[in-house]
Amino acid sequence: MKLSPGHWYPVLSSLELRDRLVAKTRFGLPLVFWRDANGRAVCLEDRCAHRGAALSLGKAVDGAIECSFHGFRYDGAGRCVRVPAEGDEWQIPEQLRVTAHTITEGGGYVWAWRGPDVARESLPALPRQPMLEGLRYVESRSTWNAHYTRCIENVIDYSHLPFVHRRNIGAFIRDPVTKVDVKPFAGGFRFDLLGHKATGRQFVEFTYPTLWANKIGRKSVLVATFMPVDDRHTEVYFRWYHALPPVLRPLMQLWGRFSQYLVFKDDLPIVASQLPANVDDPGVDDAHADKLVPSDAGLVAFRKLRRDHRAEIRAWATEQGGWRASVGVPTE
Ligand code: FES
Ligand SMILES: [Fe+2]
Repeated sequence: MKLSPGHWYPVLSSLELRDRLVAKTRFGLPLVFWRDANGRAVCLEDRCAHRGAALSLGKAVDGAIECSFHGFRYDGAGRCVRVPAEGDEWQIPEQLRVTAHTITEGGGYVWAWRGPDVARESLPALPRQPMLEGLRYVESRSTWNAHYTRCIENVIDYSHLPFVHRRNIGAFIRDPVTKVDVKPFAGGFRFDLLGHKATGRQFVEFTYPTLWANKIGRKSVLVATFMPVDDRHTEVYFRWYHALPPVLRPLMQLWGRFSQYLVFKDDLPIVASQLPANVDDPGVDDAHADKLVPSDAGLVAFRKLRRDHRAEIRAWATEQGGWRASVGVPTE
């Protein structure tokens, strides 16, 4: 069985990972990222095996990470390579190690593998967003107090515009009737924006697992990538892809931040209020499950994509002998 792309989750922007340690919680797990001696991105659980201090409080030394408490050092594979208090002759026990996560880099993101712990050669390719290729981007981030599934659904839901955004992007929508024509493709789906059906030049595209893009011009695309922090928080990475000269970068950065603030400040309280917090919460009874209507076609496509991919990765995990290590099991 060959896996489709999509079981890699973006967990960090490559722009954040320069010459220092970066601590992030993803899927409820505290993680620390840095670059090893070869410049390769590596990721360990952010907890020293000795006595549990956060490794992210330490520093990177010769491509390894050194805990700030007693100076234990770990390489990118999580093996302890130095215990200063025992001297160089001491044989470091094999079990003195920290969990290392399988990550890779591409498209300006660091991605974590969420699936069975198998040889790298068996892993699928990263998801792609071909329309971004060849464009530059500016980036900003914000944290939303909601599960990532609710955040994603918010940006593929267009019937909320004349209500939540009546003071900005929804101000000129006179008729709330919303028709969504979803066109699936392998690993995602696309739909035209209101009023732009004829041109096909402006559309929204979602790529599994967490990549949203809104093409707004020939060489201009807004992108939001949703990074799950825990059940109630999501770090959202906004990018504006463009072909403008680099000299305009500071201006675009400012405009990108401002427009993002203007629009999303309206969404935040509503999205944080939604129950169940996670759209796939298995414990929800019929009375409390969402009741979708035809204008929610984008959300129906999103939920189907998740169901299909989860079924695929579970079947593959069974074939591989079950779950071993991963950044969480994608049941949530
Ligand atoms: S807790 Fe990290 S070296 Fe002791
Ligand atoms: Fe919104």
